[in-house]
Amino acid sequence: MITKPKGTYDILPDESNKWHRLEEVIRKVCSLYNYMEIRTPIFESSEVFHRDVNDTSDMVTKETYDFKDRSDRGLTLRPEGTAGVARSFVENKLYVNYPVSKLFYMGPMFRYERPQKGRNRQFNQFGVEALGSNSPLIDVEVISLGAMVIRALGLNDVKVKINSLGDEESRNNYKKVLVDYFSQYKDCLCPDCQNRLIKNPLRILDCKVDRDQEFFKKAPKINEYLNETSKQRFKEVLDGLDSLDLKYEIDDNLVRGLDYYSHTVFELEVNIPEFGAQNVIGAGGRYDKLISDLGGPETPGVGMAFGIERLLLASDYSAKKLARPHEIHAYIIALGDKAQKEAIKIMNVCRIGGLSCDMDYLKGSLKSQFKKADNNNARFTLILGDNELENFKINIKDNLTDEQETISLYDVYPYIINKLNAKSPCAGCNVKGE
Ligand code: HAM
Repeated sequence: MITKPKGTYDILPDESNKWHRLEEVIRKVCSLYNYMEIRTPIFESSEVFHRDVNDTSDMVTKETYDFKDRSDRGLTLRPEGTAGVARSFVENKLYVNYPVSKLFYMGPMFRYERPQKGRNRQFNQFGVEALGSNSPLIDVEVISLGAMVIRALGLNDVKVKINSLGDEESRNNYKKVLVDYFSQYKDCLCPDCQNRLIKNPLRILDCKVDRDQEFFKKAPKINEYLNETSKQRFKEVLDGLDSLDLKYEIDDNLVRGLDYYSHTVFELEVNIPEFGAQNVIGAGGRYDKLISDLGGPETPGVGMAFGIERLLLASDYSAKKLARPHEIHAYIIALGDKAQKEAIKIMNVCRIGGLSCDMDYLKGSLKSQFKKADNNNARFTLILGDNELENFKINIKDNLTDEQETISLYDVYPYIINKLNAKSPCAGCNVKGE
């Protein structure tokens, strides 16, 4: 038996319903905030992600799936959405028509990580990117959009952790202080951090290996090194969050795993004990150099991404259930070949009119067909046997009211529509005519 690759999984029919519902929630929230969908390729030229030789992030140095195609082009399966969206923004000159482009995306990402609950090698992200504005209020908008998605799932215990990495000047000052500080403890640092000390000392703060050491906790904090402009900007973001009553906690060790951030960085956590280390379900921040690094005009940007799997896992702990039971409008129990041929015609009329229906193509026994109607949560079960056929009749049962009638073969569609009393039924919804 050939099995799926490590760190991947199948979304089986019973679960896809939840995915659709979550995607509906996401699309709804994005439309409320006026973000438009962008779909970029799943693989990009490797330079889109491997831009900087000094990039020390795990994601870029250790976790990407890089390969050559048959023409020896270097390609990378996207490990995240931001860089591809930025590439597309530059290549398609979106800034000409949309000086502030508010974009969202959903789709698979790939990282070669150690798989565990909530961590996969192929996983899905929903992300938003707002490109073109430097306003602190758009940082607030992005965070509030994220919080609204989580709340829409019925999860109210959301924690926003936030920090500011300041502008380049502030970061450079801070980096010098950090290098001086951590150099004293160089031998106690893990090999990755020894490398970060040379290439990107900020990332040491993100280290999961060293974080519990005493000297680590006493490291200088970035807020002491922010210049006035950066301090003011951070204050405006926090004031904006306050004005929306969005609760946050300043975490001065939060630097985030990607190297492109400046000013605001944040993470959205849910308080679910079973989640352990994977309780960060969404994260993001501001990046003001990414677009110009990719050859575009100087354009500020801010965004965030959620792991869709983590959102779904979190929604399992919510009282508000995402999954709707699978249901259809009608199931036809057609007994015999002739009846089956008639049934496909009836189903065709119903489907064209927007009613979902099915029948048993395995021609099972009467009992097993009733079971299938039941498994499909059919609102109406129709029975068509030789007797009914001869008289151009069909037996129909409303499973909601238990009413049963024999009606003309040609009246199935209007009969069901009347019963549903619905103006515009559509497949898969409003089955109960609510
Ligand atoms: P990130 O923190 O690397 O940020 O990923 C965002 C979210 O993706 C995480 O909080 C987590 O929920 C989910 N995630 C990451 N890796 C995995 C994995 N291996 N398995 C399952 N879920 C995972 C970014 O990707 C940035 N592009 C976010 C951003 C957008 N910043 C600005 N704009």
